[in-house]
Amino acid sequence: MTDATVRAYPNIALVKYWGKRDETLMLPLAGSVSMTLDAFPTDTTVELVPGASDDSLILNGAEATPEALRRIVRVLDIVRERAGTDARARVTTRNAAPTGAGLASSASGFAALATAASAAYGLNLDEKGLSRLARRGSGSAARSIIPGMAVWHAGDDEASYAERIDAPEIRMVVVIVDQKHKAVSSREAMRRTALTSPYHQAWIDTTEESLAAMLDACAEGDFTRIGRIAESHALRMHAHIQSAEPPIRYLAPGSIAVFDAIERMRAEGLETYATADAGPNVVAITKPEDVEAVARELAPLGRVVITGPGPGASLTDGMLPAEPELLA
Ligand code: PMV
Repeated sequence: MTDATVRAYPNIALVKYWGKRDETLMLPLAGSVSMTLDAFPTDTTVELVPGASDDSLILNGAEATPEALRRIVRVLDIVRERAGTDARARVTTRNAAPTGAGLASSASGFAALATAASAAYGLNLDEKGLSRLARRGSGSAARSIIPGMAVWHAGDDEASYAERIDAPEIRMVVVIVDQKHKAVSSREAMRRTALTSPYHQAWIDTTEESLAAMLDACAEGDFTRIGRIAESHALRMHAHIQSAEPPIRYLAPGSIAVFDAIERMRAEGLETYATADAGPNVVAITKPEDVEAVARELAPLGRVVITGPGPGASLTDGMLPAEPELLA
């Protein structure tokens, strides 16, 4: 094969990844747990271009920035080295969610890129191999290779990959309060928190505890415990990020309003919990039978999208339409 198109979906972490042990190998300081969604896909085509002297990247219909191109070339170089070729590639990618707005477009993007490049260059990687490769583009992409719930192990290059875990049925309501590109990238913010936060070691230690408790709660099918750990862990991550120097804040007034509404629903007997990644959008975690009611309550606070467990990265025939519904 000399070209391949892959569709991959973002994931939302229930125990967050925040901080790297190794920036080149993209090894996390601690393990994390997530659910790959069935919304906001990224489609990526990788075509080998015989005779071309450079790789190229078209992102959402336009020539990508040199920085975005550099990030994909890093992954393509790893694939080329393994495939024993120096053939360059044309990469075309389209996101159904706003890029860089904390809706995990880098996770779906690099999971799609790793899987498409691996197929186009003729590597025969299994799920573990693809997860390790996707990790090199963006850490959280390691988890988007996997369908549904996944754990991403910390460890060395060989041992740091995501794999499936059993968990109870969960739904998520994504509340989009802001679609703007975030001011500080997660890469830069992770670096700054690690270098300057007085709470950094406590974050690492308590994440290990949260991870063990979350894996236990998933294995037991305990939704309440999963939700409680997820909400606490998300708020700890944001507290940690805010404790950097100079401070970084991703949550906006609209995000806090969603956290408040979720707390209110819980007090009134509708069990739901909140989480948020490196951006202002908030995600409500619910049981399948409550998802419509939670979405209705949250609708006045932003654009709501109901999601459930989605597929892992896989080959597809067609590309997403040029005008993704979300951006229309
Ligand atoms: O997108 P990345 O791999 O640079 O990291 C993002 C990390 C969070 O989304 C904030 C948390 C997580 O575990 O996904």
